[in-house]
Amino acid sequence: MSYARIIGTGAALPDKVVSNQDLEQTIDTSHEWIMKRVGISKRHVIEEGEMPIDLASKAAKQAIKAAGIAADKIDLIIVGTSTPDNVMPSTACLLQNELGIEECPAFDLNAACSGFVYASSVADKFIRTGEAKYALVVGMDALTRVVDWQDRSTCVLFGDGAGAVVLKADTEPGILATALHANGKYKDLLYASSPLWSNDKREALKMAGSEVFKIAVTKLGAIVDEILQKSSLVQDDIDWLVPHQANTRIIEATAKRLNLPMEKVILTIEEHGNTSAASIPLALDHAVRQGKIKPGQNILFEAFGAGFTWGAMVIKF
Ligand code: ACO
Repeated sequence: MSYARIIGTGAALPDKVVSNQDLEQTIDTSHEWIMKRVGISKRHVIEEGEMPIDLASKAAKQAIKAAGIAADKIDLIIVGTSTPDNVMPSTACLLQNELGIEECPAFDLNAACSGFVYASSVADKFIRTGEAKYALVVGMDALTRVVDWQDRSTCVLFGDGAGAVVLKADTEPGILATALHANGKYKDLLYASSPLWSNDKREALKMAGSEVFKIAVTKLGAIVDEILQKSSLVQDDIDWLVPHQANTRIIEATAKRLNLPMEKVILTIEEHGNTSAASIPLALDHAVRQGKIKPGQNILFEAFGAGFTWGAMVIKF
């Protein structure tokens, strides 16, 4: 049986950085509040003229280079995003063109902050069934374009970026297990409506923060138990947790559930903020390039986002 094994990672962040101190100048907030309640000190923000495809393309090219393969080996492209460049064509098709690849399937997948875990899980199925040999999976989002920069309850939280992996069909593991969930009954607790169906000016992202927080902690606690069972591993087998970076307190709760010390958790939230679908592959790339994550180690990924959607994945790196 074929496993889907990560053979290359890449990342891209916009150059522009907005610090908590910058935000103190424009809204009623403080560096201390944001650090204590969320764990963010700065975020990268896409600039006028910069487009999501620029980030996706940079991250993808890095991942392909790290994988050491020619781009035309890629036979599946999935971009997990809720902020694509266009209504159509998809950012995945733009990316395919940027990479000079033709004919392979390419599509976007919207699962909000869970986009990377969802997209990787779909790519895993393509590889396991023999439909793809080299899959490019990108998590990319630019939610700073969707927030109201005067709403302190949301604008301090988000940053922009993209992260990418190349997955190869291999007899060696690989993705060991994935678990995906969604529950649309929570649709009103976190949403950004489409400007297409509104006569008013674009409506900004809205979030019932503390309700989202409580449900995220509960669902992520349950899904780490589920994914351990599905992968036939126990807590002690996990070498690293690479979580979605929405709130340090949510991450600490999940690490506690796994009985994992915080030294074994990859944290990029302080520098990146919540980059939605990009946060996990950005954190993964960061840890791989720092030499923290090593071949043969077991890594648990988990994410939670609008929908609600949530998911987890365990891989042997
Ligand atoms: N600076 C200063 N004070 C603030 C700020 C701010 N930026 N934002 C809110 N406050 C105030 C509030 O007005 C409130 O004041 P009050 O007590 O006088 O009314 C107080 O701080 C507490 O507000 P809460 O919303 O209860 O704060 P909480 O501790 O819940 O933290 C946060 C808010 C950070 C948003 C948290 O609830 C959270 O992380 N939620 C989950 C986010 C998440 O995981 N989202 C899913 C992924 S994102 C996606 O899918 C797109």
